[in-house]
Amino acid sequence: MEFLKALRGEPTSKTPLWLMRQAGRYMASYRALRAKHSLLELVKTPELACEVTLQPIHAFQLDAAIIFSDILPILETLWLKLEFVNGEGPVLHNPIRSAAQVQALALRPLEETIGFTLEAIKLVKPELKVPLIGFAGAPFTLACYALEGGSSKDHRLAKTFMYSEPEAWHRLMEILTAITSDYLIAQADVGVDALQIFDSWVGALSPQDYHRYVFPHLHKLIAGIRTRTSKPVIYFSTGTTGYLNLIAELNADAYSIDWRVSLSTAHKQLGEHKPIQGNLDPLALLAPWPELKRQTDLILKQAPKTGFIFNLGHGILQQTPEDNVRRLTDYFAE
Ligand code: CP3
Repeated sequence: MEFLKALRGEPTSKTPLWLMRQAGRYMASYRALRAKHSLLELVKTPELACEVTLQPIHAFQLDAAIIFSDILPILETLWLKLEFVNGEGPVLHNPIRSAAQVQALALRPLEETIGFTLEAIKLVKPELKVPLIGFAGAPFTLACYALEGGSSKDHRLAKTFMYSEPEAWHRLMEILTAITSDYLIAQADVGVDALQIFDSWVGALSPQDYHRYVFPHLHKLIAGIRTRTSKPVIYFSTGTTGYLNLIAELNADAYSIDWRVSLSTAHKQLGEHKPIQGNLDPLALLAPWPELKRQTDLILKQAPKTGFIFNLGHGILQQTPEDNVRRLTDYFAE
């Protein structure tokens, strides 16, 4: 429960930690399941999603679990056809490419597109002694995938659409905000203890563009969630250290930051009383223990006395040795 105490800014008996993308390919037990099932099969079969959620919890001393799913299945609510292609990553086969497509968007019932994750939450919750985190992609990050049709380095198609079809852009963001809100509330209703919003790609924007094209929707999303649940909301972003002052105005319960800014600087900019999560470089988990320990200690030294959750600055890499994760999590339990 130290994780939830930290999220409320209360004193904790240890520094709570969990690792973004803590279930996944760096674990041999995950790879063994993946040899038999596709990623979407794991996500869409509640018993398997439950099993994968528990894998890192059983292997390491972690202070929170995160439900095993992905940020992208919810895009099937917009009738986008999602596939994870081995070696290539996610593909949306019928991306949105015109304002007319946005105008014509009809929605599938959420139950059909994410119901399996709600079932997985119900299965895993009684198995856990630590809190369970529910999550969703943020509207901008989801819009990138919906418009690009997959991953992208420069988000050229998404940003071009944003600049040239601002009305349709805002309409798309409104739709994504509405379904994301309903999805997060549905997860809260079936038992998750905290909610994390992943805005992985938003750092591609200038502060001005973030303010104009993204901020109003995120603000509405977080304010809306607040009226429907008291469970804490964490906003995660990367590459946004040039406008943490704007992010501070989102009024989330906590912020998760990447490693491109020092924890103490980010904490000052986000608000001294605001709980903060981060911010080890995921690459440091590939380093020998003395270096990993040095970087970890540096973060702990900068961490506020209360309201701090140790995490990575972005998702764990698949090349991460499990022994390094064990060493790190044991260090926090000492
Ligand atoms: O323990 C956990 O946190 C796992 C649950 C989880 C997954 N994806 C499973 C997954 C979570 C929280 C996510 C979030 C996610 N998915 C994000 C936001 C966080 C981030 O890292 O930025 C994003 C952008 C995605 C989209 C996505 N999913 C991509 C780009 C890819 C392919 C690249 C990659 O990392 O492999 C995925 C696939 C994916 N989602 C895997 C897992 C475990 C890869 C595993 C596999 O193929 O078996």
